[in-house]
Amino acid sequence: MSLTHKKIILGVTGGIAAYKAAELCRLLVKAGAEVRVVMTAAAQQFVAPLTFQALSGQPVLTSLWDAASGDGMEHIHLSRAADLLLVAPASADFLAKLAHGRADDLLSTLCLARTCPLAVAPAMNREMWAAAATRRNLEQLAADDVTVLGPAAGEQACGEIGLGRMLEAGEIAAAVTGVLAAGPLAGKRIVITAGPTFEAIDPVRGLTNRSSGKMGYAVAQAAAEAGGEVILVSGPTCLTPPAGVRRIEVESAAEMRAAVLAVLPGDVFIAVAAVADYRVDAAATQKIKKSTEPLTLQFIANPDILAEVAAMPDAPFCVGFAAETERLAEYAEAKRLWKKLPLLVGNLAQDTLGQDAAELVLFDAQGQHPLPRADKLTQARHLVRHLSTLLN
Ligand code: C5P
Repeated sequence: MSLTHKKIILGVTGGIAAYKAAELCRLLVKAGAEVRVVMTAAAQQFVAPLTFQALSGQPVLTSLWDAASGDGMEHIHLSRAADLLLVAPASADFLAKLAHGRADDLLSTLCLARTCPLAVAPAMNREMWAAAATRRNLEQLAADDVTVLGPAAGEQACGEIGLGRMLEAGEIAAAVTGVLAAGPLAGKRIVITAGPTFEAIDPVRGLTNRSSGKMGYAVAQAAAEAGGEVILVSGPTCLTPPAGVRRIEVESAAEMRAAVLAVLPGDVFIAVAAVADYRVDAAATQKIKKSTEPLTLQFIANPDILAEVAAMPDAPFCVGFAAETERLAEYAEAKRLWKKLPLLVGNLAQDTLGQDAAELVLFDAQGQHPLPRADKLTQARHLVRHLSTLLN
């Protein structure tokens, strides 16, 4: 499998396994990846940056302060351009830093600023690997959606035998290819709705709601990361579509429904949009003039896009969202059954609207699965993982 055009940031931290990272760099470049190497100060005690510069064909980045020579935003630009951030070897100290979200050098700052997946290949003495603190840090990293590759068991540089050796370069390169090439949604067409809808009252006024679209865009990004072909039907938001996602912009519920029906059939339909339940019957074609008289507007119900798609004879796997303000479990499960959905994501609206972090509960035929409180992208990745398991 090829890594052609894949942009990989290879982070090297301080450990004797840093010498294996040189071979890993060579293998990734050979497979077609564009590799930028970032070394911590400790890593440079083991291998000289020049080694990685020669192997990657790119200058090696070693300091947050050197990187600040341009507009000072190298940590943001680099991580935005990357398809994967891979830290190999990842020392016990670096895992601890990651788990706590520290950002005191270029590599840890890149990790915190990233929008791409992060994989780490730990390497350390077996007692350090087994230590309670390392166990806690790894649990946190798993919850934060960090892929942990290895370690392997065997003879260690210190002469002891046990778990903690970094995987061989070839094994890491193969795992990276797997992560980048074929996600669990590879080959699947995923249609996602996001954002609010805007229902016109007249040419200059309308009704909308407080959905920011952040959750739908995060789900679109997570589904694209998982290899899906993602079509995002979005109401009005100020968000940029995630890389690799095709966006169709709509305003009203009727336009959203038409756009969804036009792009189906698909394998999965995820309705994240906060669709207005009603629209103004016969919106005025000219601006309604102000007067001192009361104004009466007649509302009619909008079509329920999700229920309609779920009832189709060749219905895709349908996922709904339910924002409730109380009795979440009861209302969400009732909604799942009513709309005939294999999976529904529930949240308390007052917790989530416009926020970056969300507390979600997944409802499926097996029951409830609360997700740990996290930012929306992490939650979306958890959702996509759960969805992939149910699908496959
Ligand atoms: O019934 P309720 O509006 O709470 O259901 C929410 C779910 O249904 C969300 O997944 C939402 O995107 C979807 N929905 C829809 N069309 C509507 C209303 C809701 O697709 N008209």
